[in-house]
Amino acid sequence: MTDKIRVLIVDDLPETRENVRKLLQFEADVEVIAQAGSGEQAVELAIEHNPDIILMDINMPGLDGITASQAIVQNVPTAQIIIMSVQSEADYLRRSMLAGARDFLMKPFSGDELISAIRRVYQMRPAHVPATPAARGRGAQATAIVEKGQVQQGRIISVYSPKGGSGCTTIAVNLAVALAEEGMNTILVDGSLQFGDVAVMLNIRPSTTIVDLMDRMEDLEQDLVSSVTVSHRSGLHVLMAPPRPEMADLVTEANVKRLLEHLREHYDFVIIDTSSSLNDVALAMLDMSDRIFLVTQQSLPALKNASRFFDLAETLDYSRDKVLLLVNRSSERLGISVKDIASTLKRPVIATLPIDDEAVNRAIDEGKPLITGRHRRRPISTALYNLAEVTMTLFDQEGSAVGGAASAPGVPFWKRLLGRSPEAAG
Ligand SMILES: Nc1ncnc2c1ncn2[C@@H]1O[C@H](COP(=O)(O)OP(=O)(O)OP(=O)(O)O)[C@@H](O)[C@H]1O
Ligand SMILES: [Mg+2]
Repeated sequence: MTDKIRVLIVDDLPETRENVRKLLQFEADVEVIAQAGSGEQAVELAIEHNPDIILMDINMPGLDGITASQAIVQNVPTAQIIIMSVQSEADYLRRSMLAGARDFLMKPFSGDELISAIRRVYQMRPAHVPATPAARGRGAQATAIVEKGQVQQGRIISVYSPKGGSGCTTIAVNLAVALAEEGMNTILVDGSLQFGDVAVMLNIRPSTTIVDLMDRMEDLEQDLVSSVTVSHRSGLHVLMAPPRPEMADLVTEANVKRLLEHLREHYDFVIIDTSSSLNDVALAMLDMSDRIFLVTQQSLPALKNASRFFDLAETLDYSRDKVLLLVNRSSERLGISVKDIASTLKRPVIATLPIDDEAVNRAIDEGKPLITGRHRRRPISTALYNLAEVTMTLFDQEGSAVGGAASAPGVPFWKRLLGRSPEAAG
């Protein structure tokens, strides 16, 4: 028995397979056990060799990578698939993830990117593989999360942008409503504590807010949380921001962490609408998140800010797959394409939301989320539903939460922004 990570390489081009094999040949913990030149052969070899990881090309003549992945997930549920593609578009990523792929590498990739993706996906493989993976469905998913342990581990997702006005609130509200409509037990937290907009977008007049929980954190009970949250007709629970900007200071970093820890245990999804300015409380929200949906746009300043945020994420020791890109207000008429964004930042774009001034603004005026009102058939609503679908798929198969590094207790946020580890600073 060997405990090396056993890899199957699938690509129709022999040179590509050879290049990938070369990138892996000196890794002591990885062994390339077979290579396949087609989707059909990939399925056969996967059944025969039972690899841990399959590196799968998307575009192949005959059975393409996505269809082959679907077949492999059914037949060899222990194999974890990483898609390799030059296509960075959201639709490809979405289809690969729906097909059961666990990660996505954009060609050309470096040896380091390849090996870290392999190790990460290998580590995230489920301890127990369901007997019939095909039976995993949306409805089953909420229950599956509860069944993983006695304590439910819901997922925390922050919607964040380094630049105000990028569309975080629009996306967070609609994503949360879509998840609730899919039967997920979901709470939306207005983490934009000074000037939160969630209440306006959902047309809710808040009587209770997050501030009402702050002096009850020692013995926080779900009954209390339920009495402070507001229920939306979609089934979504909403925790509102303080009624006045100066009351934001009543919400402390320690209490936010305790609160999110509690919410994680009581909901399938905790969606946080964050504000752009980073302070210790905002950073605590990002730290606690399993994923950060980074909202960007097709403009140079937006691209620069997104790139700076990725640098910051590295400084904060967030794992590479913690921050995922979303492009809002997309339009084909803009100079920078969505593909340029993905290749410049070397990260896949998981959702592209088209610009639609009329629908977005009318929805706000009406106080109804886009996806529930009369705009629900517009392309932007479809994109938001797709985002909810991808969000659920992201955590499908995954064991307990795998977010980035937790913050070091007691270290002020600005010290963490300046240096990797507090010890290193002396
Ligand atoms: N895809 C879109 N098409 C057209 N308009 C949009 C789109 N997304 C957001 N908007 C508009 O952009 C403005 C800002 O959106 P939103 O409030 O969601 O952003 P935000 O990032 O939460 O901003 P803030 O920094 O103020 O919290 C709103 O007027 C909204 O209607
Ligand atoms: Mg906002």
